[in-house]
Formats: sequence, C-alpha cells, structure tokens
Amino acid sequence: MPPTPTDTPRVRLTGLRKVYDAGTHPVTALDGVDLTVAAGEIHGVVGHSGAGKSTLIRCLTLLERPTSGTVEVDGVELTGLPERRLRSARRRIGMVFQHVNLLDSRTIAGNVEYPLQIAGVGRRERRERARELLDLVGLGDRLDAHPAQLSGGQRQRVGIARALAARPAVLLCDEPTSALDGATTRQILALIRDLRDRLSIAVLVITHEMSVVREVCDTVTLLDAGRVAEHGAVAEVAGRTGSRLARDLVPVPDLPVGSERSLLDVAYTTDRTPTDQVLRVLADLGPDAQVAAGTIETIAGRQVGRLQLDVPAARTDAVRARLAEIGLLGDPAGAPADTGPTAVPTDDAEVTR
Ligand SMILES: Nc1ncnc2c1ncn2[C@@H]1O[C@H](COP(=O)(O)OP(=O)(O)OP(=O)(O)O)[C@@H](O)[C@H]1O
Ligand SMILES: [Mg+2]
Repeated sequence: MPPTPTDTPRVRLTGLRKVYDAGTHPVTALDGVDLTVAAGEIHGVVGHSGAGKSTLIRCLTLLERPTSGTVEVDGVELTGLPERRLRSARRRIGMVFQHVNLLDSRTIAGNVEYPLQIAGVGRRERRERARELLDLVGLGDRLDAHPAQLSGGQRQRVGIARALAARPAVLLCDEPTSALDGATTRQILALIRDLRDRLSIAVLVITHEMSVVREVCDTVTLLDAGRVAEHGAVAEVAGRTGSRLARDLVPVPDLPVGSERSLLDVAYTTDRTPTDQVLRVLADLGPDAQVAAGTIETIAGRQVGRLQLDVPAARTDAVRARLAEIGLLGDPAGAPADTGPTAVPTDDAEVTR
C-alpha cells in the first residue's frame, strides 16, 4: 500500500553524523542522530551549549555536508542532490531566526515578497501572497510599514510570514523567541501553534528555553554531545522517572538531606497513575518515604506529577521495588533502559527533619 502523506514524515534524519576536521583534533558534533517530524507536529530540540543544535540545523539544510547519514525533507533525500536541485529543495524549508534580517529599504510586504521574487513569481501573485500571509500573522493592516517602524515582536511576525512565503513543508525555527520579552514570546509561540493548525506544517524549533518546549512543542529531543539522549512526546517525557528533560520541564527543588537518607526522584502522568494511587502507596510506606517536595503541572494537556521522596538510605532498594510495582520507576513507553530513578545520597548536609 502506498504511504499516505501523513505516513511520510516531513523531516527524517537518519544516522546523521558530522565530524568537523578541526586540524589535528576532529570534533564529532553529531554522532548518529535519528529524528522525524510529521506534518502538523511541533518538535523541539534542546541541549547544552556545544550539544550540536546549530550543526543539526546546518546539516538539515545541507549548508553543511553531513559526514554520513541522510536528510529527507518532504520525501526528498537532500544528501544525494546536486547543488542546483538542492537550491530548489531548500525552498521546502522555511527558516526563522532569533534576529530577523529584514531589508530596511523595503516595506514589510516587500520583505515577504522578496523570496518569491527570487523564485521568479509574478508581481501580482507575490503581492497577493504577501497580503494573505501578513493577514495570517496579524499584520494585514501594516503592509506598507517599514521594518524600522515595527516592534521586535512585529518584526519576528514578518520574519515568519517571509519564511512561509514559498509554502514550505517545514518551518525551521532557530531560537525564535530568545530575543523577545516574556509576553511577546508567548504571542509568537501562540502564532506558531496557530500556523501549524491552519497550515498543517511540520515545525522544528531549536531552543535553549524549556518554557518554549513546555508551551509549544508536541515532541522533544534532548541532544547531548551530538547524540539523542532522550526523545518523545513532551507530556510522556515529563512524566518519566529519572528523565533529565522531566527535571527541566517540571522542576522540583533538590533539598538537602543527611548522610543517612537519600532523595528519590519520581515522575508520573496522572492518566496512567492517578495521584491518589501514588499517595496511597506512599502512605503504606510510612516513614520509609516522606514527600520532601512535589508538584503537579499540566504539560501538553496532560497532568504530570513529580515528587522528591526523602528515604532512609538503607531502605532505598525496598522503596524502589514498591514503586516499581505500580509502574513508577522507568517508563515502558520508551525511556532508555539505563535511566532508573536517581537516589542522591548526600554526605555533607544535616538531616533536615
Ligand atoms: N565549523 C566548525 N569547526 C569545528 N568545530 C565546530 C564547528 N562548528 C561547531 N563545532 C563544534 O561542534 C560542536 C557542536 O557545536 P554546535 O555549534 O552545533 O553546538 P550548539 O548546540 O549549537 O551550541 P550553542 O547552544 O552554544 O549554540 C562543538 O563542540 C563545537 O565546538
Ligand atoms: Mg548553536
């Protein structure tokens, strides 16, 4: 049976490797990255500085040749294309950057038209498309304004409209809100979500802001030293015990405990494990497991709970075994096998209770 459009991801990276030849010390910036983004999906890529995020973007657009692996955009394998075909294939990718580079001498409509002009689209069609897109991003009444007359958030809206001009299959956003204040960030993220809904476009967002992942992403990949350390649906990941992403998505303070005690980190999604069930088990454990800190948050429409349990060090294994019985340790839906709960024995602080 031929695949339907929704079966084919808009972006598919397979075994992507990039080794920079930096003199005598080659640097492996990407080390076998697999990643897909479907139509209508907003996928976030996060990771520390140097994790390989920018390299991933440059390899995705083939501005940088991957050392090995493949890049498919909208069903076309870019890695195999000659330069001329690559240029037209790149039009399937719209790019939004942290700092919008608009042409100051042109009106904002002129800026949105620009990529279409380069692609040889006629004047009337360009005008119409620019009007339609600026309407879509909420600037339909400012067609003739110049970039200098706009706020940072409005300029970013123009940047997004311009990125969509050639009807790309994929919108690639590189730190799209890092230069904006909180309220403007939320507006731009709402716009990205709205555009995804209307245009059913695939969106890849590179960000260092967990709040962006929390607010707008459906799925997320954590890059660490060029490898995929974790990935999955945002709510799923947030409810994973032992997950680094969960710690960042649903932060709970790490409290000092004494040398006789350990902190046990537990995460769950309430649709799978209701909080009252967790609390009943904890009540049964009595003094073996005290809740030191905890929170319940709604992430991507699902409730996620995270607890820091304060456990006598000698009882840690027993408590783990009991929590495992109700499925609270490790996530059968895809957590890497080695991300068990983290007990943090401390030897410097006093027992605080
Ligand atoms: N042109 C290059 N030549 C050699 N090494 C490079 C080059 N570009 C990046 N690297 C190295 O590759 C690794 C990944 O870098 P990259 O810029 O992709 O990280 P990043 O996740 O974007 O970091 P940041 O959050 O700081 O932007 C780093 O070790 C970096 O030093
Ligand atoms: Mg970077």
